[in-house]
Amino acid sequence: MRVLSGIQPSGKLHLGNYLGAMTQHLAAQHEHECFFFIANYHSLTTIQDADRLRALTRDVAMDYLALGLDPEKASLFRQSDIPEVVELTWILSTVTGKGLLERATSYKDKIAKGLTPSMGLFCYPVLMAADILIYRSDRVPVGKDQVQHIEMTQDMAGHFNATFGCDVLKRPEPELNEATIVPGIDGQKMSKSYGNTIPLFDSAKRTRKLIMSIKTDSKSVEEPKDPATCNVFALYRLMATEDEVAALESRYRAGGMGYGDAKKALAEVVERVLGPAREKREALANDPDFVEDVLARGAARARAVAREVMADVREACGLSVGKDTHS
Ligand code: TRP
Repeated sequence: MRVLSGIQPSGKLHLGNYLGAMTQHLAAQHEHECFFFIANYHSLTTIQDADRLRALTRDVAMDYLALGLDPEKASLFRQSDIPEVVELTWILSTVTGKGLLERATSYKDKIAKGLTPSMGLFCYPVLMAADILIYRSDRVPVGKDQVQHIEMTQDMAGHFNATFGCDVLKRPEPELNEATIVPGIDGQKMSKSYGNTIPLFDSAKRTRKLIMSIKTDSKSVEEPKDPATCNVFALYRLMATEDEVAALESRYRAGGMGYGDAKKALAEVVERVLGPAREKREALANDPDFVEDVLARGAARARAVAREVMADVREACGLSVGKDTHS
């Protein structure tokens, strides 16, 4: 089974990204063949500054490696190192109704937020479908906001196969993240656009300071507290061991513990995960050749699959005379 996911290099990754998506990606590498790519073609719809895009792309690669992506197990690569994906995007667009794309909620949301309605933004789901189909992906772990895109991908695969009377494109299945809502420091969903994030790679001091500023209710130290409604506890539950969670839970209910102590406990478990990752991240930043090498090896593996699928696609729709002539 092949698992695939794309990550947009759109800024500093934060605890919400880690707990909501990255942990799921990192766990999958031990069980399945995994392709993870940095979606830099997609980012061109919002980032139009070459140096910035290059830097953000490298940052995502280092972040994943620092947090435990094992390049011997999973293939990590840049989307743009497999340019065949753009060819498939064009071909898919010829079997995709404009109405399908007009129903994409992500497009409507982005326009409502003030993004320029470019053709790239409009065709975003076709490029995403090509990403998925070109590697014959079985499972695509995504957040809820991306499920519609996977359904569109299923439609496009079906249309292509029906149009050309073939069975070349494989229907993928979404794998929903277990609706983990990760609260930010203000209690809303942690998101870059709300400015309430805890970045993964700030200094230990700054991370601790952010944790100490998480919003709580105003119960006094003596009062018993409700873990179920507390943002600090919600984060603790996602990062601590079962025993630790149970222990903190009883301290909440017993009373006599202030929120400051709960935050300190949270800061400790966060540092336990991020501390070693921060060190590894620094080592990677000093070894750009290693990072490049990982991306190149990942791209080579991915491209071999993409080329095979494209040979079949070209043959199915009559762009090539036959497989042998093309390869
Ligand atoms: N659209 C996805 C996001 O914003 C990123 C992405 C691009 C992706 N191509 C993909 C995710 C293919 C999964 C599969 O999060």
